[in-house]
Amino acid sequence: MFKIAIMGCGVVGSGVADILIQKSEFLSEKFNEKVELAKIVDIRDFKGTAYAPYTTADSEDVFRDDDIKLVVVTIGGCTIAYDLAKKALMSGRHVVTSNKEVVAEYGCELVKLAFENNVRFLYEASAGGGIPIIRPLNICLAANDVYEIQGILNGTTNYILTKMKNDRMTFEDALAKAQKNGYAEANPSADVDGFDAVRKIAILSTIAYDEEISYKDLSCKGIRDISYEDLELAGRAGFAIKLIAGSKKTEKGIEASVEPLLLPKDNMLAGVSGVFNAVLVKGSYTGDSMFYGQGAGKMPTASAVLGDIIEILGKNTDSTLPKFVSQKAKLDKSNDNKYRYFVRFHFCDDSVDETEMIEIIKAIFGNESVYCNPSEQAIGIAAIVTGYINEQEISKKIDAFSSAVKVKTGNYIKVYS
Ligand code: HSE
Repeated sequence: MFKIAIMGCGVVGSGVADILIQKSEFLSEKFNEKVELAKIVDIRDFKGTAYAPYTTADSEDVFRDDDIKLVVVTIGGCTIAYDLAKKALMSGRHVVTSNKEVVAEYGCELVKLAFENNVRFLYEASAGGGIPIIRPLNICLAANDVYEIQGILNGTTNYILTKMKNDRMTFEDALAKAQKNGYAEANPSADVDGFDAVRKIAILSTIAYDEEISYKDLSCKGIRDISYEDLELAGRAGFAIKLIAGSKKTEKGIEASVEPLLLPKDNMLAGVSGVFNAVLVKGSYTGDSMFYGQGAGKMPTASAVLGDIIEILGKNTDSTLPKFVSQKAKLDKSNDNKYRYFVRFHFCDDSVDETEMIEIIKAIFGNESVYCNPSEQAIGIAAIVTGYINEQEISKKIDAFSSAVKVKTGNYIKVYS
């Protein structure tokens, strides 16, 4: 008998319950052992639903049942979820979670604790939702020296950027639409400021490079400053703007961040639209591998949780995988690597015509292509894509430019390279 408990019956937890209820017979046959959902811990009343027969508000009901061998932690936030995961592991139960906050904050400790208790702590659903990415990094690509990961890891921000570009929307209107469709949280800061994506890239990078990377050490910038004009002008220059959670090995360590980036339109990530997520992994033997799919939502994320449950049922007890290691990675935070930049200017004086705008910009930035006036409502706006320059130099150049001529510099965004 292999009984499973779910702690937290919200969006993902209820999806896991649905699949377990539907598939318990299939799982029992496949693994030659009775597999069943035993308990759902949640303080809400699910009277009249399929969850009611399993529900309890008391987590001790799980710890009192010796046949419960696996606990799914789908409670949000860090505190209670962490305490329950820890308690379950210490009681000799496997833990599977979709909670990226817990994995990003305590992954290393919980993997170690699982190892000490001869059980597994698995977290495929914590990054990329339904996309299989953690197990491929841990197993399928493990022979490679992975040297770069670039991902669109937040569906809400990708939806907002897609809407802004396709429907000429402001950031605020596109965010409201995302909230109406249930993609963004009521407090959307975790999505739009990059805090969700930074945890996910820290988790993936830790696995890929086999060194601990804390999300707290990574630079993180969201999409609040991106305007429709940025998307339009970047498009004219042959680029898409995406919120990229990326990391790569440089000579000085690992450079990792979350920030909006310009991607050439033929880059595989540039074509990822709406709420979809994608992860591009560069390996020494495989070259580029792209993982694409639904990065959020009830059933895609529940599917990833079930993948972990099935791995445990398959009695793959190699507890060294997935291996959150305790050796700290050396991060490259020098900020002196050179990139090309997209720079947007807003001329305050309406009488400056297009030819003059181009002359003024070229006088300071050199002979770059200048893209002007993204729409009839946005006259006096121009943008360039610079040559390779480091962040301090571009920032100095912009400051000098802004004080020398009557122009506001709206935004500058790195071009992916
Ligand atoms: N808010 C997240 C997103 C949900 O939009 O991608 C999945 O972590």
